[in-house]
Amino acid sequence: MGGTPYLEEKRGAYASPRARSKRKAIIFGGIAALAAVIIVVVVAVYFTVVKPHSSSHNDSADGAAKAGSSATGSASSASPTGASTQNLAVSGGDGSTITTEDGTTFTYTNPFGGTWYYDPSDPFNNAAQAQSWTPALNETFNYGVDQIRGVNLGGWLVTEPVSRFVPALYEKYVNTSTPAVDEWTLSEAMANDTESGGLQQQLEDHYKTFITEQDFAEIAGAGLNWVRIPLPYWAIEVREGEPFLPQVAWKYFLKAIQWARKYGIRINLDFHSLPGSQNGWNHSGRLGSVNVLNGPMGIANAQRSLDYIRVIAEFISQPEYKDVVAMFGVTNEPQGNMVGQEALASYYLQAYDNVRGASGIGTGNGPFISFHDGFIGLAGWAGFFPNSDRTSLDLHPYICFDGQSSSPYSSRLSVPCQTWATNQNNSMSAFGLSTAGEFSNAINDCGLWVNGVNLGARYDGTYSGGGTFPFVGECEPWTDWTSWNQSMKADIQQFALASMDALQNWFFWTWKIGNSSVSGRVEAPAWSYQLGLQQGWMPTDPRQAVGICESTAPFNPPLQPWQTGGAGAGQIPASFSSSFAWPPATISNAGAATLLPTYTQTGSVPTLPAPTLSATASINAGDGWNNASDTASMFVPIATCNYLNPWCGEVPAPSPLCSAPAKRAHQLAAPTITAAP
Ligand SMILES: *[C@@H]1O[C@H](CO)[C@@H](O)[C@H](O)[C@H]1NC(C)=O
Ligand SMILES: *[C@@H]1O[C@H](CO)[C@@H](O)[C@H](O)[C@H]1NC(C)=O
Ligand SMILES: *[C@@H]1O[C@H](CO)[C@@H](O)[C@H](O)[C@H]1NC(C)=O
Ligand SMILES: *[C@@H]1O[C@H](CO)[C@@H](O)[C@H](O)[C@H]1NC(C)=O
Ligand SMILES: *[C@@H]1O[C@H](CO)[C@@H](O)[C@H](O)[C@H]1NC(C)=O
Ligand SMILES: *[C@@H]1O[C@H](CO)[C@@H](O)[C@H](O)[C@H]1NC(C)=O
Ligand SMILES: *[C@@H]1O[C@H](CO)[C@@H](O)[C@H](O)[C@H]1NC(C)=O
Ligand SMILES: *[C@@H]1O[C@H](CO)[C@@H](O)[C@H](O)[C@H]1NC(C)=O
Ligand SMILES: *[C@@H]1O[C@H](CO)[C@@H](O)[C@H](O)[C@H]1NC(C)=O
Repeated sequence: MGGTPYLEEKRGAYASPRARSKRKAIIFGGIAALAAVIIVVVVAVYFTVVKPHSSSHNDSADGAAKAGSSATGSASSASPTGASTQNLAVSGGDGSTITTEDGTTFTYTNPFGGTWYYDPSDPFNNAAQAQSWTPALNETFNYGVDQIRGVNLGGWLVTEPVSRFVPALYEKYVNTSTPAVDEWTLSEAMANDTESGGLQQQLEDHYKTFITEQDFAEIAGAGLNWVRIPLPYWAIEVREGEPFLPQVAWKYFLKAIQWARKYGIRINLDFHSLPGSQNGWNHSGRLGSVNVLNGPMGIANAQRSLDYIRVIAEFISQPEYKDVVAMFGVTNEPQGNMVGQEALASYYLQAYDNVRGASGIGTGNGPFISFHDGFIGLAGWAGFFPNSDRTSLDLHPYICFDGQSSSPYSSRLSVPCQTWATNQNNSMSAFGLSTAGEFSNAINDCGLWVNGVNLGARYDGTYSGGGTFPFVGECEPWTDWTSWNQSMKADIQQFALASMDALQNWFFWTWKIGNSSVSGRVEAPAWSYQLGLQQGWMPTDPRQAVGICESTAPFNPPLQPWQTGGAGAGQIPASFSSSFAWPPATISNAGAATLLPTYTQTGSVPTLPAPTLSATASINAGDGWNNASDTASMFVPIATCNYLNPWCGEVPAPSPLCSAPAKRAHQLAAPTITAAP
């Protein structure tokens, strides 16, 4: 990195919250953009890219350079520093050369008429378009008509200990006396391992290298138009005793926004890991118990989570970001059957109020809100949140974790084409937009650590995570992709296409899987879109999926007006709101909500910082807070009370709650395994 003047976000120094200045820069930026468009036409798409000099930034020179470029029409409009001679294009299509922030180049390959756009002197321009058939970011995405064809960026800002994602990160710490099984224990192990650079350096190295700008370019070139990005709460802050690396993930999420904007890709930000854990799984941050809406800390952790949802919503609803981060999954995979649908609906309604309180109501105001079905099933949510403004349901249809079968791919098409297609279709009518936030090509649980570190696989009878799963077959034929022949690849592709057709609006899990450091290759191939593209079992054009499931009639658009922010949006009847008022009356495995520990709204809000733009001081990147009237403080512990550990599990709540002697911090029990859904 270092001093390249191109695309760089300055580290560390962020604008202070709520000191929002006027956006006069946007008008200025518009003029610059116009100039840039003319320049691009003149200079043509095949551009000689002069490697940027590594001179340091000079903000006072920026203004001069910009003024100069619009006055003279010189080809240096993309050179905000003006100090060096640069001929960087601000836009291009198939075959154009991309120069990344470290000066390296690659060729943009997009056979679908997509165009990238990035002008550092106009960094919030949304002219980029992923493909000719996907609306540019500055155009309206017509939900229910325009299809979401997306991939997850799994294993990046929330790490997961599975070969599916980035095994090398965990492999180093699995054969130790305290093996890393989730990001909590990984963080502890990394922090101890100062020889390798400790926590920050090791984790940031992963953030820097696992997903880069080139991935976004490839995703657009693969005919995909959305990404779903899991984000953990520690991207915002951590509190005492929490070993996660705080805030650094956010810096990389900001890069993701910039890259998505450049290639015309929309982001579904998925709040994946909540304080206390919303599902007890490794990808929630800590493997073990469920402590959001469950157990004695169930309310307190939910209060804190709802505040993080508000903080994220305030950031992404800002005009500079709302058209890129166009969907917000407020909580990934909560255990709906454990916490109960009533409590979950009450929590979701409060999350909805927090997001809409930040964004306002109606098309163009902030993100679509996505609610995971909590494993209750799409049908179980029909009619919920009536007239809510731009809400959608998120289902993760996996068939690999339950009973195992050795039947080949070719005999499995009825699952997507009948079951999934019908469910999805019905939900589009009964609820509104319904997406599959995750699905994969896996039809069994073979693959290194697909079930978690050292847990084995049900398929070959080695599963040690509970239940009885007799041997069905060897895993190797399913994981050794180097031995797959053409007919195997064609069968997988047919299954992928059937899934896409059935789900209509989807996010494959996941874009990329790291190599195992032991074998040097991907050990869970059914989970990697990128490997499938490279090796010929994923479609090079996902539109090939249309009509594969011949027997089903797809959803007949459009959605109802209020479901996409039109007439009536946000008019949730009082009868519904009062039935699901926050907080719920009882919390599972804890009892009456009124008797449980709660936080108090007196803390300062950890506003999310905007990127510091290298281009110029006069362009406003936002102060992180869209609604200046939303001045409520943050839920924090009452100073005079002691609290249970947020990850305490289902321990009895001490009574009385707020007298110091009765309150000791509870010891954490050893993590236990929650069965996969
Ligand atoms: C920055 O640019 C201005 C205007 O060209 C120039 O006067 C000034 O010396 C430069 N400062 C540095 C530190 O290079
Ligand atoms: C999107 O941006 C491009 C380039 O700035 C512009 O030509 C186009 O008119 C914009 N579209 C809309 C709908 O604003
Ligand atoms: C950990 O130990 C097991 C059993 O000895 C071995 O199979 C595995 O390859 C080791 N993993 C790593 C990452 O060294
Ligand atoms: C980290 O180091 C401390 C002190 O040496 C030790 O007690 C602890 O078990 C270590 N934790 C891990 C996860 O390695
Ligand atoms: C660990 O994470 C993987 C990947 O998300 C998941 O499939 C598995 O069920 C998890 N295991 C446990 C024990 O939480
Ligand atoms: C902004 O927040 C205030 C206070 O919560 C709320 O009353 C108002 O409706 C919000 N504005 C919008 C546009 O939602
Ligand atoms: C391809 O591989 C499958 C699975 O190993 C096998 O059953 C099939 O006979 C092979 N087909 C050809 C044409 O070699
Ligand atoms: C895995 O290793 C292969 C061979 O070294 C390499 O080509 C590939 O890029 C690697 N994949 C990832 C996802 O790192
Ligand atoms: C899908 O929904 C449409 C209405 O939007 C309906 O006409 C059609 O019969 C449904 N198909 C299935 C398979 O449910």
